[in-house]
Amino acid sequence: MRIVLRIGGSVVASPVNTDLMNKYAEMVLTLKGEGHEVAVVVGGGALAREFIGIAKKLGLEEQSQDEVAISVSRLFAQLFLKKLGGMGCGKVALTLDDAVECLNTGKVLLMGGLKPGITTDAVAALVAERVNADLLVKGTDQDGVYNKDPRKHADAVKLNHVSFDDLADVFSESKHKAGIHQIIDPEAVKIMKREHIKLIVVNGFKPDNILAAVNGESVGTVVN
Ligand code: UTP
Repeated sequence: MRIVLRIGGSVVASPVNTDLMNKYAEMVLTLKGEGHEVAVVVGGGALAREFIGIAKKLGLEEQSQDEVAISVSRLFAQLFLKKLGGMGCGKVALTLDDAVECLNTGKVLLMGGLKPGITTDAVAALVAERVNADLLVKGTDQDGVYNKDPRKHADAVKLNHVSFDDLADVFSESKHKAGIHQIIDPEAVKIMKREHIKLIVVNGFKPDNILAAVNGESVGTVVN
């Protein structure tokens, strides 16, 4: 399978968890060993938000806030790439063309942000669209998609399966803001729905969940 793996900055980088980063690197190599093609898109987590805050305090506009957050996400992508050694592409992909070129060599693609005004979820969806991925797995800081925000509602119920259409009901924000954190970016959902890309949202603090999702086991929330 061609898999896009979106690792939340909220998972590996808020605070930075090097044990978990090591586990993810191992997991990616396991997926490669199983014969999958793997693209990894990482976010910048708390450090990206810190830089967004600094940019804000400096009076810089939203686009500049996004730009510094993108730089941070690319640093994390670079770290993952270094951990993969020869199995990863030589450089962090900065464009979708870079992404295609990398995957065509049979190596693991690493990417952070792409451009201002979007999130890394949307980047993952754009990569999935461009390379015709079979599956996008998002490792996040919740067990999956809930019928309402579990951080605000104690009676929120986790959904094992939800359609792209019904997903729209669980979003609180539909407009981009630098540093916004939602279970999945509505912009990414639009792309996946249009391109019929299957999405599985799992708890990213347990990388085994990613393997389980790829192997078709029941974990997290399946969106299609
Ligand atoms: P994300 O919110 O996508 O990363 O990007 P994350 O840290 O992995 O987030 P979680 O774990 O899903 O919460 C962080 C910020 O970087 C900017 C945006 O401001 C975004 O909120 N960004 C990221 C861009 O502007 N463009 C991109 O392509 C990616």
